[in-house]
Amino acid sequence: MSLHDEIRQLAAARKAVILAHNYTRGDVQDVADYTGDSLELARKAATVDADVIVFCGVYFMAETAAILNPGKTVLIPEPSAGCPMADMITGEQVRELKAKHPGAKAVCYVNSTAEVKAECDMCVTSGNAERVMKTFPADQEILFVPDQHLGGHIANLLGRTYTLWPGYCPTHQIITVRGIDEARARHPGAPVLVHPECAKDVRQAADHALSTGGMCAFARETDATEIIVGTETGILHRLRKENPEKTFYPVTERMVCPNMKKTTLDNLFDCLRGLKTVVTVPEPIATRARAAVEAMLAI
Ligand code: 13P
Ligand code: SF4
Repeated sequence: MSLHDEIRQLAAARKAVILAHNYTRGDVQDVADYTGDSLELARKAATVDADVIVFCGVYFMAETAAILNPGKTVLIPEPSAGCPMADMITGEQVRELKAKHPGAKAVCYVNSTAEVKAECDMCVTSGNAERVMKTFPADQEILFVPDQHLGGHIANLLGRTYTLWPGYCPTHQIITVRGIDEARARHPGAPVLVHPECAKDVRQAADHALSTGGMCAFARETDATEIIVGTETGILHRLRKENPEKTFYPVTERMVCPNMKKTTLDNLFDCLRGLKTVVTVPEPIATRARAAVEAMLAI
């Protein structure tokens, strides 16, 4: 039996659902029950009917699933799969920031630790940030952590000014305006999609800044037959699988998130067999973080 089939058999025996982020390896996406962006996977994690959730992605994503499912077992195949951006701010630093800005609302990107979410009034993902941030009055002071680029992008879209924490994604810093210009020269007429985690000049040089789920929807709906993609290259697997008649070009093959690649079929199999590593979030952090995530899911 193939490793893929053994994993499916074990998942059924364990009553487990396998969730995979769009950036994971292609063979991991293929064995998963659901593949999606952070918002789609958080929604799925909140509603799935399973005893065990195996999260193939990075740690904060599994932690979010654990926050939303206090009664379920949440597993991560490789617990060292972290997100450097999420680690660019601590709960203590959010408390200090709030103390300097009394009256401000603290908003965290979902790419943050449970400890940081617990200090925030609201959570957003790249897929819903504009919609969620619109619900705040225009004159509400906002502290946005940890991603300066997503925060700056939404502030620009809404014509508002936020206090931005200087966090960033190292993978999305690899892409440059020059890289986009060269990709356009290679594929004239192809629309360029980038992730809102890219720097401002890169977002301005692109045609659309979209979450990975937004890119999948764009690819489905557009009449364009060639599309240039400026995000982690793992998404190309899903885009090509869902749109075999279209051609997708990465701006650069170097846009790889090493942590997203840590989940393999081998460690996924071991995870299901040994039911490890279990992801837990201690109380009262979990309850406070859940309030910020549920406030987001309610919008
Ligand atoms: P998405 O929610 O758009 O999938 O983004 C997650 C992420 O980590 C981007 O780097
Ligand atoms: Fe974090 Fe960037 Fe990797 Fe996304 S791509 S998980 S933001 S390091």
